Amino acid sequence: MISDKVKRLPPFHVMEVLERAQELESLGKNIIHLEIGEPDFPTAPHICQAASSALWSGETKYTHSQGLPKLREAIASYYNEKFKLELSPQQIIVTSGTSPALLLVFMGLLGRGDEVIMSNPYYACYPNFVEYLDGKPVFVHTRESCGFRMEPEDVVAEINSKTKAILINSPCNPTGHVMSPGNLRSISDIAGKIPVISDEIYQGLIYRGKDHSILEYTSNAFVLNGFSKLYAMTGWRLGYLIAPQEYIRPLQKLQQNFFICANSFVQHAGIAALIGPQEHVKEMVSTYNTRRKFIIKRLKEIGFGINYEPDGAYYVLANAKEFSKDSLDLSRRILEEAGVAVTPGIDFGDGAKGYIRFSYANSIENIREGMDRIEKYLRG
Ligand SMILES: Cc1ncc(COP(=O)(O)O)c(C=O)c1O
Repeated sequence: MISDKVKRLPPFHVMEVLERAQELESLGKNIIHLEIGEPDFPTAPHICQAASSALWSGETKYTHSQGLPKLREAIASYYNEKFKLELSPQQIIVTSGTSPALLLVFMGLLGRGDEVIMSNPYYACYPNFVEYLDGKPVFVHTRESCGFRMEPEDVVAEINSKTKAILINSPCNPTGHVMSPGNLRSISDIAGKIPVISDEIYQGLIYRGKDHSILEYTSNAFVLNGFSKLYAMTGWRLGYLIAPQEYIRPLQKLQQNFFICANSFVQHAGIAALIGPQEHVKEMVSTYNTRRKFIIKRLKEIGFGINYEPDGAYYVLANAKEFSKDSLDLSRRILEEAGVAVTPGIDFGDGAKGYIRFSYANSIENIREGMDRIEKYLRG
C-alpha cells in the first residue's frame, strides 16, 4: 500500500514531457529539446580526469559525512573570494546534488504546519518538499510586468508566527530573473530572525551585472548550490549546503542517517571543478548569452509575450496566452505536432498558467530549428 503522502505527490511534468519526447524519438520522430534544464555541454576533461584518477587510486570508500575536507575548503574559498565572506569549511555539508541539500534543510527546519514563503512561479519541486514534510508552502505571486521580482511588501504580508523560512532562488528557474542587491538586502532585512533559504544553483549563469549571494546580506541563511548547472555535471550528483554553524550538527546527523555521504570519487571531481581552469565556464556562459538573445528575439517575433529581459539561468518563461489559454494543452500539441519539447508553465505553479518555459541549454542550430517549427505550427 502506497502512503497517502506519496499518492498526493504531483508528477514533475517536465520529466513526463521528456519521457514522452523520448518515446516519440524511439518511434523515429525528430524532436528538438527545449524542455529540460540540463546543460548540453559535456563535463570538462580535467574534471572527468580527476574522477577517473580518484577511482583508479582507490577513492571508493565512504568519506566524512560532511564531505572531503579539501572539497569543503575549496567551496569555502570559492564563496569567500567571490563574495568577500569569511566562511569556515565547517559550515559546509557536501551532498549528492542540490536536491538532497534542499531536503536536509527542510527536514532540519520544518515541523507539522510550519510555513515556508516562496515565489510563485517557483521551481516545481519546492512545494513538494515542504508538503511532504507536513509543512505549508506560502506563495508570493511575482508578476511578469515586474520582471518576476519578489516584492518585499508581499513577503512581509505573509510572515506570521508559523513562518520558518523565506525561500529565494536567484537566478531563478523558471523565470530567469536575477535578484538585485537592493532586493536581496530588503528580503534579508524583512526576514530578520527568520532564516532565508537561498537556492543559488544557477549562480554564475548571469548575463548582465554582477553575481550575488544572500550571504553578502545576512548570515542567517542556508545556501544551496551544486555542480550540475555551472559545471555541466547534472549526472554526477554533487551539491552542497552552507549553514550557520549552530545548524551544522543537526543537519550532519540527518546526512549521516539518510545519505551517509556524497560519492567519494565525484567529490574529487568537484575539487577539480572549483580549483582547476575556469575558461570552459566562461565559454559556456558566453554561449548561453548568445542563445539567450537569439531565443528572446525569435520568441517575440513569433508572438510570445516577453515583457522583461530574463538575464540569468537558461530559461525564458514566455507568455503564450496569445495562442491558448491552456498552455499545458498547447505544449502537448507543440510536442506532438511540431516536434518541439517545451515545459508547460503549470509545472511552476498557477502563477505560470498560460506560460511556457523554454530552456536554451541547447545548440543555436537546434534552437533555430525549434523556433522555426513552432512558428510554422502556430502561424501555419
Ligand atoms: C532551482 C533548482 N534547484 C535545484 C535543482 C536540482 O539540482 P541538482 O541537480 O543539483 O539536484 C534544480 C534542477 O533543475 C533547479 O532548477
